[in-house]
Amino acid sequence: MCGIVGYVGKRNATPFLIEGLEALEYRGYDSAGIYVAGKGVLKRAGKVSVLKSCTPSDFIGAAGIAHTRWATHGAPTENNAHPHTDATGNIWLVHNGIIENYRAIRASLEAEGVVFRSETDTEALAQLVGKKYRELPILEAAVAAALSEIRGAYGIAVMSTREADKIVVARLGSPLLIGMGDREYYVASDATPLLPHTRRVIYLDDGEMAVLTSHGHSITSLTQAPIEKGIETLEWNIESVKKKGHDHFMLKEILEIPEVIENAIRGRLDLENSHVHLGGLADAEERLRKTKRIIITGCGSAYYASLIGELLIEEIVGIPVETEIASELRYRRCTVDPEGAILIAVSQSGETADTLEAVREAKRHGIFTLGVVNVVGSSIARETDTGVYNHAGPEIGVASTKAFVSQLVVLALIALYLKQCHGTAETNILQELTRLPDYARSILGEREQIEEIAAKYAGMQNALFIGRKFQYPIAYEGALKLKEVSYVHAEAYGAGEMKHGPLALIDPEFPTIALMPRDSVYEKTLSNIEEIRSRGGKIIAITTGSTPQGMNEVISVPETHEALLPILTTIPLQLLAYYIARSRALPIDMPRNLAKSVTVE
Ligand code: M6R
Repeated sequence: MCGIVGYVGKRNATPFLIEGLEALEYRGYDSAGIYVAGKGVLKRAGKVSVLKSCTPSDFIGAAGIAHTRWATHGAPTENNAHPHTDATGNIWLVHNGIIENYRAIRASLEAEGVVFRSETDTEALAQLVGKKYRELPILEAAVAAALSEIRGAYGIAVMSTREADKIVVARLGSPLLIGMGDREYYVASDATPLLPHTRRVIYLDDGEMAVLTSHGHSITSLTQAPIEKGIETLEWNIESVKKKGHDHFMLKEILEIPEVIENAIRGRLDLENSHVHLGGLADAEERLRKTKRIIITGCGSAYYASLIGELLIEEIVGIPVETEIASELRYRRCTVDPEGAILIAVSQSGETADTLEAVREAKRHGIFTLGVVNVVGSSIARETDTGVYNHAGPEIGVASTKAFVSQLVVLALIALYLKQCHGTAETNILQELTRLPDYARSILGEREQIEEIAAKYAGMQNALFIGRKFQYPIAYEGALKLKEVSYVHAEAYGAGEMKHGPLALIDPEFPTIALMPRDSVYEKTLSNIEEIRSRGGKIIAITTGSTPQGMNEVISVPETHEALLPILTTIPLQLLAYYIARSRALPIDMPRNLAKSVTVE
């Protein structure tokens, strides 16, 4: 979604601003703009490369802000691109989030004679800051006064032509980080633009604003009461956000899966004593022992990981678990008794608006919250009562691959930990977890076979994914992956549902990707596949052990405990989606219409 960068210091701001926008491209956007003190503004619809190519070499200044916009209010045009200004042209503002009461603000300013130039909600805020600035020309005071009248979510960076060495940033519901340099400051809406420059950061929390100049910084509440904040260190490094010779981040990230599993379990398994250590949960052990009910939530792939979390906890621990899409959960009437209840929120970015709101709603009802989050310092990581980090490193491709796998590993660890809190260990699963990196390596070693299968099926219009029990959510995840990167229409069903309707779709042109490892429901799945085969349907089987008869294609993964098999069976599906998208020459890392992190509802 939208991205913000800013710089104030001794050097020329423009190179950081342009490179920062490039680093944020993966989030998804459709226009871009830059404002540099003393030079003015440049905006373009389309790619950052278009903006970059029209930026003159003398577009130089020691402070500036820039933005990538993912259109919500108004088309992705140059006019609607940020930065936006006020009636006098003094104020320049970039904004992530949504101003909910912008219509009322716009109407009241228009009634005073202010002429708007765009269709955006953001311009209403820029014009309002401008109005306050005309009354009291101190930028931070004007911003604070304007924000006190705003309803909605924002991360903003604001400059004034009259205070050229100053950037004011503020946050409510949309992330902002301040990178600390040597008498210079960087601003970004996520860590990636900062990595080449500094790993020392301040995470702005909701309701906070900061004033940055080349002479220093101050942080206050929105009512301008001073706030002391510590400097934190970013965990990621610059290497982790490079493609390292691969054509796409998606393939690079799939190939990182063995290492990602190792990172998720590192230091957390004590095989000798059959013990799981999860530092974040140690203080909550007493509460976890008394847990009677668990709700797991997330969106997209994180929701499918949550469904597997549900099966893992029910099978391993025997506690009732309910999983719900965050965008639904947040609007359901809460009937949960907070005593003995836990909400687990699963999110790679830690910024997904619906998941964050579901956490807040649970907290309002007194429910204990636990985050399974990849991005350290993100909103969900900070707002949940406790949590377990994935340690998967930055995921740049819009399609979640390695982060999804790491979510499954962390949810398995949480299930084992809960079991341990109840006094018993699951030694077999514990041991198998340590073997997963090698199993994943062997699947990736056979990827040429998947590439060949993908070449054969690249022209398909539709695909069906089926699975049962632990493979049922993986069928959904496989279909999502194929849809989002290759634009092939894909459906997913529990294999047992075929006779209840979807069998009518089957013909020789509508292949089925069948998840059928030799688990406790293998024979059942096999009968469902026979129903498809006898109606002329083609089968691509993802299986373990000896090759089943009569399949059109067979992809084998190593055998392991059935509760851990999703971690392996998802890998060929990711590769299949990737190779099909590649043979269709699609923009794999940034599929049309999608954003990496969905920070608005
Ligand atoms: O950052 P999150 O894990 O909260 O993101 C949730 C979904 O938006 C995300 O998984 C999305 O479905 C991916 N594009 C799937 O590949």
